[in-house]
Amino acid sequence: MRTIRARTFLLAAAVGLLVLHLCKDFIDHNNIHLVDERADGGGRRPPGPESPFQFSWPRCEGNSSAANVSGFGSLPAEVQDFLRYRHCRHFPMLLDLPDKCGGPDRSAEVFLLLVIKSSPGNYDRREVLRKTWAEERRHKGLWIRRVFLAGTTASGFEKQRLNQLLALEQREYGDILQWDFQERFYNLTLKQILFLDWMQRRCPEARFLLNGDDDVFANTDNMVDFLRDLPGNDGGEHLFTGHLIQNVGPIRFSNSKYFIPVQVQESDSYPPYCGGGGFLLSGHTALVIFNMSRSVPILPIDDVYMGMCLARAGLRPSSHMGVKTAGLHIPSRTLDEFDPCYYKEVLLVHRFLPAHLYLMWHRIRDPGLKCGPSKETLQEPQTVNQE
Ligand SMILES: *[C@@H]1O[C@H](CO)[C@@H](O)[C@H](O)[C@H]1NC(C)=O
Ligand SMILES: *[C@@H]1O[C@H](CO)[C@@H](O)[C@H](O)[C@H]1NC(C)=O
Ligand SMILES: *[C@@H]1O[C@H](CO)[C@@H](O)[C@H](O)[C@H]1NC(C)=O
Ligand SMILES: *[C@@H]1O[C@H](CO)[C@@H](O)[C@H](O)[C@H]1NC(C)=O
Repeated sequence: MRTIRARTFLLAAAVGLLVLHLCKDFIDHNNIHLVDERADGGGRRPPGPESPFQFSWPRCEGNSSAANVSGFGSLPAEVQDFLRYRHCRHFPMLLDLPDKCGGPDRSAEVFLLLVIKSSPGNYDRREVLRKTWAEERRHKGLWIRRVFLAGTTASGFEKQRLNQLLALEQREYGDILQWDFQERFYNLTLKQILFLDWMQRRCPEARFLLNGDDDVFANTDNMVDFLRDLPGNDGGEHLFTGHLIQNVGPIRFSNSKYFIPVQVQESDSYPPYCGGGGFLLSGHTALVIFNMSRSVPILPIDDVYMGMCLARAGLRPSSHMGVKTAGLHIPSRTLDEFDPCYYKEVLLVHRFLPAHLYLMWHRIRDPGLKCGPSKETLQEPQTVNQE
């Protein structure tokens, strides 16, 4: 009896170890397997528009003539780097989601695709978004789907660890698109272009997209209601709306985060664009932007670059009052800035900490929430000032 038990135990332990070993192997080499399989698949079929998504690209060579540009030597190192690699638009894909939209043919069933830029280390933000506004679900019968966009950060072991984290999340949630490029300020626009390339292949018929950051509060139920009530509610017409920014141009001070020297952009003005914290666009407009991007040189600032592609197509972005990428204006300091009544009607507010976001999402959906015309003030009569 005892020996049987001992044997059973040993057997169970061995199976357990084997499973552990396989899992470890899977996690360690997940990325490499993906790249290899697809690269082989590509070899068997002649490349063409119908060929499978290309996972591995030859390393993009720097442009040695970039240094001929006048004043190159006096530019900050990262701008020099940008100019050398500005033409690079293809990077190997580390994590893909071929069936996110049910395949290209069925992608029309996706009404709102949430496209969220997220740096590999932002695990806590992704976790809370999955449980709140970015939860994949049907709202009024219309499908909401989610993808996070990531590049790579750090180097050496830290880079490997962060890539493993994303691979683990991918296995559990299936919501990450990752490419092998360094996430830096001057590389932000790459995420947008690489995503649009993916969309055109994997999810071309999605009706609408929310393109935004992982630190915003987005009322995705309201977004679906707004989009469903539009005259062109099948996503086949032009729509690009958010916090509209007009009559601005490049910042020429080299100590600004947003420094754009004349060597990067000569013109002193930007076309109208929507703040990158979050904007809504139709599937049609997303594909037009992708088409235009082929002939618009990359500008590091991703939201401005979207405006440039729109302008190239002769299209304009529009303003939506419900998108507050500069934050909400609360009329008085005695009012609770996190009163759910302020957030119930908006589409998007920048920026939110994960804990606030989690709480707010539940408060605005509370059927017992009462929002009258006058907001409740804090019980501090001595500080109440009528504005
Ligand atoms: C630009 O740089 C390349 C490579 O450094 C060099 O061969 C070429 O002569 C330069 N062209 C001009 C116009 O200065
Ligand atoms: C390389 O840089 C030069 C100078 O800016 C530019 O004229 C040329 O188009 C660039 N080549 C590529 C492949 O981007
Ligand atoms: C952008 O990413 C590529 C690939 O990782 C890298 O070679 C390049 O230096 C990055 N560019 C900037 C401006 O950081
Ligand atoms: C984008 O360009 C392709 C070919 O270049 C064309 O077939 C397609 O209709 C274009 N799509 C849009 C939305 O402009």
